[in-house]
Amino acid sequence: MRLSVIGCGYVGLVTGACLAEAGHEVICTDIDADRIAKLKAGQVPIYEHHLDKILTAAGNAGKISYTADAGEAIRFGEAIFICVGTPPRHDGSADLSAIDHVAQQIAAEARSPKLVIEKSTVPARTGIELQRALTAYSRGGNGFRVASNPEFLREGTAVEDFFHPDRVVVGVEDQAAAEQLHEIYRPILERRFTCPVHTGKCPDTQKAEFLVTTISSAELIKHASNSFLALKISYANAVSDLCEKLGANVEEVTHAMGLDPRIGTQFMRAGLGFGGFCFPKDIQAFISLAATVGVDFEILKAAERVNKQRIDRFLEKVSKALWVVKGKRVAILGLAFKANTDDIRFAPALEVMRRLLEEGADVHACDPEALEKAKKQFPQAHFHEDPYQALQGAHAALICTEWDQYKKLDWEKAGKVMARKLIVDGRNLYTPAKLREQGFEYVSFGRE
Ligand code: UDX
Repeated sequence: MRLSVIGCGYVGLVTGACLAEAGHEVICTDIDADRIAKLKAGQVPIYEHHLDKILTAAGNAGKISYTADAGEAIRFGEAIFICVGTPPRHDGSADLSAIDHVAQQIAAEARSPKLVIEKSTVPARTGIELQRALTAYSRGGNGFRVASNPEFLREGTAVEDFFHPDRVVVGVEDQAAAEQLHEIYRPILERRFTCPVHTGKCPDTQKAEFLVTTISSAELIKHASNSFLALKISYANAVSDLCEKLGANVEEVTHAMGLDPRIGTQFMRAGLGFGGFCFPKDIQAFISLAATVGVDFEILKAAERVNKQRIDRFLEKVSKALWVVKGKRVAILGLAFKANTDDIRFAPALEVMRRLLEEGADVHACDPEALEKAKKQFPQAHFHEDPYQALQGAHAALICTEWDQYKKLDWEKAGKVMARKLIVDGRNLYTPAKLREQGFEYVSFGRE
């Protein structure tokens, strides 16, 4: 099928690339002409495993193309995926102005009926407003049907998540839209694609369910799912604080909890808390959506509060260990909001760095992928490609992102260059006993 993708960020590029790889003809557009120029030149503007490979293959096969001309893109596709940003506004509600702008473009440029698919994360009832806007902007034209198709991909594993979804959720007003979306996803649902992630045979996981519901329910499923995952992390972090007070081990506690399939072991890793461009803003948007209909989402407000306090908890551990922070050389290992991405949006590590710099610490940071982005925001800090250079002369090593590189770090070697063998681990990356055997002072979350 001929498909258009408007917005070439994480969701748009991964969606376009994977649907092209699955056999559809895809055109991508973005208001950032520079980003389109880069894509046309074969450069991928985001760091995401496998994405460059499939964009190149789809480009060579003539399955994907890019244009800065939104009209051209809009006229191309039978279905249009809206994948623009919905950043938080000052009150936490989602800013939908980019979606509205796309609606005006579609109404002005389309020359044939279109299925307009929301893929951006939006509050419930956005689709109904979008349908109304498209009708109004096209002066009563009825060539547009709106559907919702929320995305659940995680940064760092986005391509794998797209090809191996747990479920494909579509929100529609009519059966025809559901059938058209099923056709779009048929290659994924029937696993008729060359998987760029698993060379040879893909894991024999359960086939994804194709779930058809209303537009508002589909929109709500996204916010509710992300907010629940964030809630789970905050719950594990609250239990972690209790473990510290009661002399228990949060890892053993959450592991045992997770063995109950009603709870599940995933997303219960205690530590510095969640960041990234999804959880923090989706919780806020969900709380603010609930408030507009008189629902006080206290439980999510508590999850957000617990998450914000992770930084305080962490810095309390650092101050307690260092006594005086001012003038101390502190190495920060990891800046990205999680491993396997270069994304630093709402990354807990940046808040840690900002607060330490404020206290007069001499901050030396490293990250395998996110260094350039962080440098722009913190000119007063020192940045190192090599973690051992960041650790040189350090009075403390602070682990802020769970990169494999840091899991495998040679602490014997690191200990020799540090001024003090002290580790404050914000991601519970190591086994306390092992590091203590190597002569380290070791502090982490929820463990003795
Ligand atoms: C998330 C959702 O997982 C995804 O389904 C949705 O489409 C977009 O938002 P993402 O933001 O890429 O994806 O990151 P995710 O892997 O979910 O991690 C979010 C944050 O939670 C990270 O900062 C991570 O470090 C933290 N986290 C995750 C924990 O602190 N503990 C955990 O157990 C898991």
